[in-house]
Amino acid sequence: MDSTPLFSFVPSELSENKKRSALTNTLEKQVNPLSWILEDNNKEAFALFEDTGQIYELQLAKMEYETFKRSLNLFKKRTAYFKIVNGELSHHALLAQVKGKGQIGHTNQYLTHWFYPYKGKFHGQMIKAIINFIGASDNDVVLDPFMGSGTTLIEATIIGTQSVGIEINPALCIVAQIKLDALNLDYPAFAQTIKTKDLPHIFQYFQQARKHLNKKRWQIEAQNQDAKTILKTLWEEHFPEGFVKDYPLEWKSLLLLIYLHALSDYTYLKNTNKAKSFETFFYLNFNDYLRTLKGTYETLKALHIQPKNYKVLLGSALNIPLKANSVKGIITSPPYSIALDYVRNDLHLLNYLGIDTAKLRSEMVGLKGSKAEKLKKYEEDMWKSIQEMYRVLKPEGWAAIVLGDVVVGNKRTNFCEKMLQWAPQIGFVDAYAMKRPILGGFARLRYEYILLLQK
Ligand SMILES: C[S@@+](CC[C@H](N)C(=O)[O-])C[C@H]1O[C@@H](n2cnc3c(N)ncnc32)[C@H](O)[C@@H]1O
Repeated sequence: MDSTPLFSFVPSELSENKKRSALTNTLEKQVNPLSWILEDNNKEAFALFEDTGQIYELQLAKMEYETFKRSLNLFKKRTAYFKIVNGELSHHALLAQVKGKGQIGHTNQYLTHWFYPYKGKFHGQMIKAIINFIGASDNDVVLDPFMGSGTTLIEATIIGTQSVGIEINPALCIVAQIKLDALNLDYPAFAQTIKTKDLPHIFQYFQQARKHLNKKRWQIEAQNQDAKTILKTLWEEHFPEGFVKDYPLEWKSLLLLIYLHALSDYTYLKNTNKAKSFETFFYLNFNDYLRTLKGTYETLKALHIQPKNYKVLLGSALNIPLKANSVKGIITSPPYSIALDYVRNDLHLLNYLGIDTAKLRSEMVGLKGSKAEKLKKYEEDMWKSIQEMYRVLKPEGWAAIVLGDVVVGNKRTNFCEKMLQWAPQIGFVDAYAMKRPILGGFARLRYEYILLLQK
């Protein structure tokens, strides 16, 4: 038998046992992700979540650890990818137990993330890790200029960082505001007042309100209005009189969101084997929302988490209403080129609220222009929006931009690459891209990139 050692870097003078243990140590360091992340620290006292497996997740876990390794108590509170920190269960392990519909592991749909099935939302866990990497804390501000349904703001608010979201679609401003306000809900009072026996009347109220809302259709111009003010105006001037209108603003808005969620379920599922009546979806969702609201209330209380300030503004990422050098970090995901029609996707929502879509369409990144010029206009808007991000970032601050290279026509777009090229031209001093494979059906999107740009 050939006696050449397989691992020739094990010194030959070591005894057999020592050789074996040197081998295992070396091998362990090479193959165990925890050894790579923690280097020589006490591995037994730490554990990643069982479903942390993709390379970008391990990279983010390492980035989190490097940020917080000298403050393990803070790390336990803030980590997204560690289940155990210094021998104790992390806050994320407990927060992700407040499960929502369609939740996969610890990554998405926990807390109020799942309220309203907005297509194309972020995974909360990933956003939390990026906020950690950015190093934002108490008085810092995190910005999402393409806010969508508010994932960045929810994570920032739970972590204890202030946040601002900007979104061009008024319906999404309303959705995000309600999801965020729900984190502060006085659950016992809400559950005691809104009873199951009232649900048929509440459902009827929203059904009848549709006619009123349609009589007063509005074309809201995005002028940096606060979403809370829009919500108040909607209730005061567009909804009909009725007992629902007498509930506190946060409660009636939450009921509205449950109704809109049912409307979306009904619209998308009516011709499938999951079809149910609109009213049944409303009742089912009400019970599911109640379960989440109870879990959120109890868990935040147990962890002494006081949701931090957030602001949702109806405005444009092309003209961010913030001062230069004012935000610590940006986490955002612009429309993925011209591939998704966000107005068509949420038409049922916009129509119900009586929001006219012509103006909205003309202002949305990715929807401007006719066929041939669409991609060109998209590119111009992306350039403008990244310049704006650069302007509002504090020096040394990071912008994390999540973007997919989708297929348009038969061609894969390469905007991620383009943005890495633009970064130094705009003034960023560092730029890095992490690749996230998209597993599963949607062939037009194979990879998403997390672009990290430093001012
Ligand atoms: C990929 S989605 C963001 C989803 C979000 N990350 C979430 O978790 O819900 C992109 C969003 O950009 C918004 N948008 C498009 N043009 C915009 C503009 N000019 N200013 C601000 N938001 C815009 C769209 O309405 C859409 O909600």
